[in-house]
Amino acid sequence: MLALQPLAQAVVAALLVLQAAASERFTAAVYEHAVILPPAAIQPPSAEDALALMDKNMDVLERAIQEAARQGAHIIVTPEDGIYGWRFTRENIYPYLEDIPDPEVNWIPCTDPKRFAPAPVLERLSCMARNNSIYVAANVGDKKLCNSSDPGCPSDGRYQYNTDVVFDSEGKLVARYHKYNLFMLETIPFNIPKEPEAVTFETPFGKFGIFTCFDILFHDPAVVLVNELQVDTVLFPTAWMNVLPFLTAVEFHSAWAMGMGVNLLSANTHNISMEMTGSGIYAPDGARTYYYNMKTEDGHLLVTELSSHPRLSPAYPSAINWSSYASSVKRFSANDHDFSGLIFHDMFTFTELTKSEGNFTVCQKDLCCHLSYKMAGTQEDEVYVLGAFDGLHVVEGQYYLQICTLLKCKSTEQKSCGEPVETAQTKFDMFSLSGTFGTNYVFPEVLYSGVQLAPGEFEVLSDGRLISKIAPTKPVVTVTLFGRWYEKDHVKQDPQPPASP
Ligand SMILES: *[C@@H]1O[C@H](CO)[C@@H](O)[C@H](O)[C@H]1NC(C)=O
Ligand SMILES: *[C@@H]1O[C@H](CO)[C@@H](O)[C@H](O)[C@H]1NC(C)=O
Ligand SMILES: *[C@@H]1O[C@H](CO)[C@@H](O)[C@H](O)[C@H]1NC(C)=O
Ligand SMILES: *[C@@H]1O[C@H](CO)[C@@H](O)[C@H](O)[C@H]1NC(C)=O
Ligand SMILES: *[C@@H]1O[C@H](CO)[C@@H](O)[C@H](O)[C@H]1NC(C)=O
Repeated sequence: MLALQPLAQAVVAALLVLQAAASERFTAAVYEHAVILPPAAIQPPSAEDALALMDKNMDVLERAIQEAARQGAHIIVTPEDGIYGWRFTRENIYPYLEDIPDPEVNWIPCTDPKRFAPAPVLERLSCMARNNSIYVAANVGDKKLCNSSDPGCPSDGRYQYNTDVVFDSEGKLVARYHKYNLFMLETIPFNIPKEPEAVTFETPFGKFGIFTCFDILFHDPAVVLVNELQVDTVLFPTAWMNVLPFLTAVEFHSAWAMGMGVNLLSANTHNISMEMTGSGIYAPDGARTYYYNMKTEDGHLLVTELSSHPRLSPAYPSAINWSSYASSVKRFSANDHDFSGLIFHDMFTFTELTKSEGNFTVCQKDLCCHLSYKMAGTQEDEVYVLGAFDGLHVVEGQYYLQICTLLKCKSTEQKSCGEPVETAQTKFDMFSLSGTFGTNYVFPEVLYSGVQLAPGEFEVLSDGRLISKIAPTKPVVTVTLFGRWYEKDHVKQDPQPPASP
């Protein structure tokens, strides 16, 4: 049996490698930054004034980076727009931009600042990474001159990009990503890159990918990074404006990490009047730590440990067939009392949960949602519904959704159902929510009263049921399966009758 022995050795060696990899952990940090904004101006600032403003923000980021390094972090993510803010014209943002080379050039701006055109922001970020021996991800602006030899060249002779950069712990530029899915007015100062860029880099603690803010709702490049390029951890600078009930930052970003099965390091800007708060460090089996603060204007540092290769960790959730359970059962209840209501401009079909426990079904188009639940006690002034939506969302972006949701209504009136709600008093003993999804991309959300997450208190079974693991410890605002059907984003829809007011 000569042939077997090397094989057995190889198997043992492979298992050891796997074990070593599975036990590998790293420390991650994200910083929610209250960005110092430039004064509203009609004219572009001078280069000196632009740099002075960026240095003020980098002074704050530097303290966060030093503190993260002191706490042992290997990597830190800082927010989108974290160095110069937002709401620019094309001309007014220009003095803030630097020409950022492709990381291929192998450049440490900190030690070789004169190699390319002056780039004081890249130089300082590189030094912060190098001086503190920590990977640093930041969001900056890139400019690329062009001319009439390029038919796409803008009339002012340059491309301007919303850009993420990453420096390794020696200060080397290892990633540059141009944001693909610009949000609303961002198309004024910035151009969309011709092709989506799927940017990754290897580290001693896993393979990383990076994208920015609104990108998280779309297939390119977010899903490509995870499914095709198999990254372990995604870096996510964002300037996220919270929208309840489904799209508040901590809720949706933690759900995306769980649905996609990757770590997500999410750093939001902090500005209460813009509803921007909510950062976190999320693993596939739940949030490790998060921050949400609508009371004060402070920034905040989060630091925690994560698995470097979550797919190899024993806690990694098993593969899920999102429609398996729901399509194997009959309707739980009739549709006699269904009614309609808007959630963030989408017309849902609702049914009221009229008892303190029960089994309900609500359907819209091809999606049927089933809910089994038991409340610990009913509150006379609180009404909950089960809702379904299957359709194209078209306000502030176009994306196809399939959503099943258990939701607290704003008041006891049915017409209030779907309006944003932050608090609740009703406790549940258990819930189990499922739907006949046509997509494999479903993000499980559980939000408790006071915009709190529920790590460790719920799970998704391999048959697609989102269930409470223990009796929820806090009152429930919503339990939601947020499905994205990317292939249908650009399919022409049947004309819909206008919704009656
Ligand atoms: C990095 O360290 C050097 C030497 O200690 C110091 O002169 C420089 O100001 C530091 N730069 C940053 C960005 O921390
Ligand atoms: C136009 O741009 C290309 C590439 O950036 C450059 O090689 C070329 O010299 C430019 N042509 C003129 C006429 O400036
Ligand atoms: C938050 O953003 C708004 C809008 O850009 C701005 O007017 C306000 O000054 C910002 N708040 C703080 C504390 O910077
Ligand atoms: C998921 O489950 C449904 C119902 O049991 C089945 O029809 C379908 O083929 C399954 N999908 C996959 C991808 O296994
Ligand atoms: C809901 O369904 C479950 C499982 O089919 C059943 O055990 C339970 O009695 C039902 N609850 C109510 C209130 O009908």
